[in-house]
Amino acid sequence: MARIEGVCREVCDATEYVTIVTSGADGPHLAGHWGSYMRIVDPGEVVVFPVGRFQRTEQNLRANGRIQLMVATRKVQGTRSPGQGCVIDGHGEIVAAGEYVDLVREKFPWARGALVVRVAGVETQL
Ligand SMILES: Cc1cc2nc3c(=O)[nH]c(=O)nc-3n(C[C@H](O)[C@H](O)[C@H](O)COP(=O)(O)O)c2cc1C
Repeated sequence: MARIEGVCREVCDATEYVTIVTSGADGPHLAGHWGSYMRIVDPGEVVVFPVGRFQRTEQNLRANGRIQLMVATRKVQGTRSPGQGCVIDGHGEIVAAGEYVDLVREKFPWARGALVVRVAGVETQL
């Protein structure tokens, strides 16, 4: 288990949106979410999103739990210029009940469930 901390935590806090990649039988599948809807919990080891649709993402994760997230912002300094991005690698599942669903429903009562990502690796891009 890895952690989202330091510069990657700053990027997560500032990113406008999150790109979400899963794998299906016909190849990679892209979905997205708003950065401000992302909750980082369990000292940086778990990322949680409210889920409304995400039908295909859910289907993919049932067969193959690997998931990648990309976050980026110009507001965080990279090594050479303003702007940093991070790829978060992990294992994802969509759950319909439990502590993470209760957490997302505090702010997003419409959520049918929660996308829970257990972080396995974090890598800066710039
Ligand atoms: C910036 C952005 C924000 C999104 N926000 C939500 C959201 O709040 N809730 C939701 O269910 N889908 C949201 N979506 C749509 C999902 O990413 C996804 O495309 C849609 O649910 C279809 O998922 P599927 O292709 O896995 O079936 C958002 C997409 C983008 C690009």
